[in-house]
Amino acid sequence: MEHIIEANNVCMDFQIGDGSVVHALKGINLQIQPNKLSILRGRSGSGKTTLINILGALDRPTSGQVKFVTDDNDITKLPDAARDMLRRNEMAFVFQSVALISTMTAFENVEFALRLTKMPYKERIERAKQSLVQVGLEKRMHHRPGEMSGGEQQRVAIARAISHSPKIIFADEPTAELDSPTGFAVMKLFRDLVRQNDLTIVMTTHDTSMMEIADIVYTLEDGVISDTTINKHDDENEEVTDA
Ligand SMILES: Nc1ncnc2c1ncn2[C@@H]1O[C@H](COP(=O)(O)OP(=O)(O)OP(=O)(O)O)[C@@H](O)[C@H]1O
Ligand SMILES: [Mg+2]
Repeated sequence: MEHIIEANNVCMDFQIGDGSVVHALKGINLQIQPNKLSILRGRSGSGKTTLINILGALDRPTSGQVKFVTDDNDITKLPDAARDMLRRNEMAFVFQSVALISTMTAFENVEFALRLTKMPYKERIERAKQSLVQVGLEKRMHHRPGEMSGGEQQRVAIARAISHSPKIIFADEPTAELDSPTGFAVMKLFRDLVRQNDLTIVMTTHDTSMMEIADIVYTLEDGVISDTTINKHDDENEEVTDA
């Protein structure tokens, strides 16, 4: 498979109250590679969130196509119900501020999310545990969000995202509220996850220190992609030491 998502000439305009128009995306062409960690970087207002929300079928562009390769459909034209299904089955989202349920433990947060997928009870319990182990939280399964650090809470959100085995995870500024070592640990976890699973991750960040860990970095400037950098990691299992 050459790519998992393809954006063709995607434009997004926002109408503002005073009648003016913001051209947030101006003809984006992009092919997201499978089993890679891709970063969308760029200054505040460059269009990162707008783009990731369109790629993840949360929003529809003003014009242009987005194709998800499992079926060659233009997903921007699919009915809402089909887009909901696609999101629920194939995609997952991780956001800057972690939306965990504060009265539930880490385990319960993940297991609860899996109920929406209609996974049978036994499998749900297993998957929830496995996912938390995979993000290194086996010792925190029975902690509530208030009893965990910010980085641990973000890892619960990541466990929840991987628990239903999505094809792709979209993460908008997942490290923005973390200090740099913790943010870096989340990035390393993302990289390990794409290496060890049939998984693709697309994330946004401002943080320039995170770029090297990604496989591909797209730079957005004022609604256009101004640069695409492919990082060659000689050894896919190399230890990253420049933390
Ligand atoms: N709902 C909206 N209505 C009007 N303008 C919007 C809306 N959402 C975004 N914009 C504008 O579109 C442009 C791109 O916004 P976007 O949120 O995608 O930027 P960003 O790169 O994610 O920025 P940040 O790093 O601050 O999160 C900005 O100029 C913003 O003001
Ligand atoms: Mg944003």
